[in-house]
Amino acid sequence: MLVDITERKRAEVLAEQFAAIVRSSDDAIISKDLDGIIASWNKGAQRLFGYTAEEIVGKSIMTLIPPDRHGEEAEILGRIRAGDHIEHYETIRQRKDGSQVWASLTISPLKDSRGRVFGASKIARDMTERRRADEHRTILMGELNHRVKNTLAVIQSIASQTLGHAATIEDAREAFGSRLINLAKAHDVLTRENWTGANLAEIVSDTVKPHASSQGRFRIEGPNIHLAPSPTLAIAMALHELCTNAAKYGALSNEEGYVVIAWTLPDKGDGRHWMLQWKEKDGPKVVPPDRQGFGSLMIERVLAAELGGKVHVAYESSGLVCTIDAPMPAGHHGMGGLDDRSDGKTHPDRRG
Ligand SMILES: Nc1ncnc2c1ncn2[C@@H]1O[C@H](COP(=O)(O)OP(=O)(O)OP(=O)(O)O)[C@@H](O)[C@H]1O
Ligand SMILES: [Mg+2]
Repeated sequence: MLVDITERKRAEVLAEQFAAIVRSSDDAIISKDLDGIIASWNKGAQRLFGYTAEEIVGKSIMTLIPPDRHGEEAEILGRIRAGDHIEHYETIRQRKDGSQVWASLTISPLKDSRGRVFGASKIARDMTERRRADEHRTILMGELNHRVKNTLAVIQSIASQTLGHAATIEDAREAFGSRLINLAKAHDVLTRENWTGANLAEIVSDTVKPHASSQGRFRIEGPNIHLAPSPTLAIAMALHELCTNAAKYGALSNEEGYVVIAWTLPDKGDGRHWMLQWKEKDGPKVVPPDRQGFGSLMIERVLAAELGGKVHVAYESSGLVCTIDAPMPAGHHGMGGLDDRSDGKTHPDRRG
């Protein structure tokens, strides 16, 4: 008698423990009979599907299945009747508010003491986040693949242009090396921003930094504009060429010269286009050149094509002036697309 009660007590305690585990589980745990009528429903199920136990117990499991998937239930019940266990079955279920959720289901037959199947227990886990992460990864892989091919094409073009134009092997090695380093830096900016593009101010300051040997060599100002990945790379490379040319022939080739880099939104915020001007001052007197190298190609043609805009280089005797006029990137809506740096003031931290 005493032994019997102890056994029963122990069984009760165990049952209470299992019930507590089910109650506190983050996963939705549901049981149903062989007609698909819901018999129990935990808090996890309420969180996932939106119904309280009072609302759903006694109703059909079909309530949770989107109409186009009703066929799944007959198959599941068939397998359960046969004593099968169904593991990690990924499917779509429907919440109380009608929205759909990706769920991973594990379904096991419930058997009585004589081994007869009388229902099923179902554990459902929300897979929406994981599905989204999978999709995101697929997009990123595609983007990466595309970028790698693009980058190789850019390198090929740098190689053929640089090697073809250089006077000596040493010049070629030097120019090729610094172009590759600049390309890598532009990628750094993009990586920092998760390949969503970059801020113009950031691209400009990062690109000119290595060329700013002393204070005041660059005066940079402009509102905040966010560019997509391709224009970001093109701008970074064009600025690198402008810097290199300024150091070889222009305002950065003497002690006094400086460069003003200023961009504006000329339409006073209706946001159709933006303009950037690179203006060299106090450098040696400039005469229009009779030859074009990789720099001009990058600045005038590649950049214009990438931005879908116009790029003009003027060899004014007081200094080279390069003007870029480009349509506003998608997603910018006039002044609404600007942030607190849209005041047009000089960025004090971005001086060379
Ligand atoms: N900032 C500048 N000031 C004065 N002249 C310049 C300036 N930038 C370019 N030039 C002139 O324009 C020419 C063409 O420049 P470009 O960058 O296309 O070729 P490069 O610098 O000579 O060679 P590469 O860029 O292929 O190394 C230069 O040779 C130079 O005479
Ligand atoms: Mg050049």
